[in-house]
Amino acid sequence: MLKFRPRRLRLNENLRAMIRETNLSVKDLIYPLFVVAGENVREEIPSMPGCCHLSVDNAVELAKKISALGIPAVEIFGLPEYKDEIGSSAWDMKSPVQRAIAAIKKSVPELVIVGDVCLCQYTSHGHCGKLCGHYVDNDETLKLLQKVAVSQAQAGADIIAPSDMMDGRVAAIRDALDEKNFFNVSIMSYAVKYASAYYGPFRDAADSAPQFGDRKQYQMDFANAREALKEVELDLAEGADIIMIKPALAYLDIVSRVHERINRPVAVYNVSGEYAMVKATAANGWIDEKKIVTENLTAMKRAGADVIITYHAIDFAEWL
Ligand code: PBG
Ligand code: ZN
Repeated sequence: MLKFRPRRLRLNENLRAMIRETNLSVKDLIYPLFVVAGENVREEIPSMPGCCHLSVDNAVELAKKISALGIPAVEIFGLPEYKDEIGSSAWDMKSPVQRAIAAIKKSVPELVIVGDVCLCQYTSHGHCGKLCGHYVDNDETLKLLQKVAVSQAQAGADIIAPSDMMDGRVAAIRDALDEKNFFNVSIMSYAVKYASAYYGPFRDAADSAPQFGDRKQYQMDFANAREALKEVELDLAEGADIIMIKPALAYLDIVSRVHERINRPVAVYNVSGEYAMVKATAANGWIDEKKIVTENLTAMKRAGADVIITYHAIDFAEWL
């Protein structure tokens, strides 16, 4: 007879639940919101079914629902009313992002607000920093990112999430926040952000595609793993509180390696292209959406993610 039979502990759902190694919870999730100017705007994003452009009033209503569902946090992205060479609407306190942060903080104070800090939605050229010719100038961009981070903290953000991939931005943002006494505002850095085709639907949604070239001079080459560990090491040394890896599904090897190596929380971003693939196949009846989403999100957690930023968050919470 076989002495060890792994199937013994798979006999029924209670046994399986009792020994389950990974338990996904709504408390692990962050829902991204896209805010726009105007009032009573709620427009579905074609390449991201179920996700909407929301004016501030509707963003507040959705934030109430998100909080009631038990989701602990939202991440705010915005479409500004004007764009220029340096992306100055990114630190305009009257812009949709800053107004949404303040309004959500006021009506749903317990909800954690993450502010995405980047310039690509705000620059006329769609790059994530200040240009010098066709080159994104690293150190000049840091000064602008500091302004964006401080403006979002002033509006009421709890966590600042820089997604630009400039070198040294975590330290620069930490300094700027501390100087304004925002020493309790955390930094969740997009430490490992690959130059990925999975961002396609987001760039439609955020109107943030680069007008020339690509982002490969600042976002990482997806062929590299050891470089990811270096990026993590740098960001932790600069003061990052949470380390994020992005995208998620094709990069779970990176999540696992980072999780093994560091003693700080790890986040993954389940990005727009990953979401759109699930939505499109589900709409065709080719997969079971609930099962696939649960499997994907559980895999991210099993790989070592403590936090998952996902457009599926509201659906997942409603299915429970
Ligand atoms: C801005 C930013 C991007 C995403 C998050 N912040 C796009 C990009 O870098 O081109 C992508 C998110 C998604 O695809 O869901 N830098
Ligand atoms: Zn950007």
